[in-house]
Amino acid sequence: MNHSIILITTILLFLFILIWLTLIEPNQIEIKHYKIQDPQLKGLRIVFAGDFHFKKHQQKRADKIISLINQQNADLVLSTGDYIYCHKESASMPIAKIAENLSKIQPPFYTTLGNHDFWAGNEKITKEFEKHNITVLSNSNTKIKIKDKTIYIAGVEDLQTGSPNVEKALENTTSPRILLTHSPDIFPDIWQEDINLILAGHLHGGQIRIPLIGAIIIPSKYGNTYSQGLIVDNNNKKMIVTKGLGTSILPIRFNCKPDLIVIDFI
Ligand SMILES: [Fe+2]
Repeated sequence: MNHSIILITTILLFLFILIWLTLIEPNQIEIKHYKIQDPQLKGLRIVFAGDFHFKKHQQKRADKIISLINQQNADLVLSTGDYIYCHKESASMPIAKIAENLSKIQPPFYTTLGNHDFWAGNEKITKEFEKHNITVLSNSNTKIKIKDKTIYIAGVEDLQTGSPNVEKALENTTSPRILLTHSPDIFPDIWQEDINLILAGHLHGGQIRIPLIGAIIIPSKYGNTYSQGLIVDNNNKKMIVTKGLGTSILPIRFNCKPDLIVIDFI
């Protein structure tokens, strides 16, 4: 009798953990707010999202994410890429559908691409995005006017699958300027000054984070250093790293909810 109770409890507990890891936590999007002191960008609100990893039949999830982005009353939406799930388009939401979904983002929207996008075909994605007037920044920049401000948004190629060239990305720009990079690992090598903010993703916070220790598996040569949140170095160089909205490799999250970042410049 006692053995049966132990067995049933163990099975139920195992099932609960499995459901939590695969179905509950990966869908608990956390809105993370940051206030950044910056006289040049004061009054501006940016939504930063990344690592969407849209699976094949996830239209409802896409609708939820786009609606959450639009609810934040942002002046500008920025992303550091990874729209594709897995390594190929067959497991993923079709690129045309992803572009159509992203076109519903109301504020001006700019993005770089990630390693998963590269594997599915950067050029194909860029063309599809351009059909919907979405600008992909790839070692390039664009000058935008929002409210009374002129801002440069620059983006570099992905570190794992391309050649990030910060110098080229920032060519002919002046501050205020914001730099998008899929991988946060280029942070210590960025020597250029007057970058108001650097945004990065890719690491998903590790997806599984052990309390007090952090992520146990993280694809960064710096371990947990740039795994998530606001990082400020000794020269006041600032980077915000998103834990991403989706998952890759293992479709699970533990103690590492997906996040959508809202930045208010004060
Ligand atoms: Fe990535």
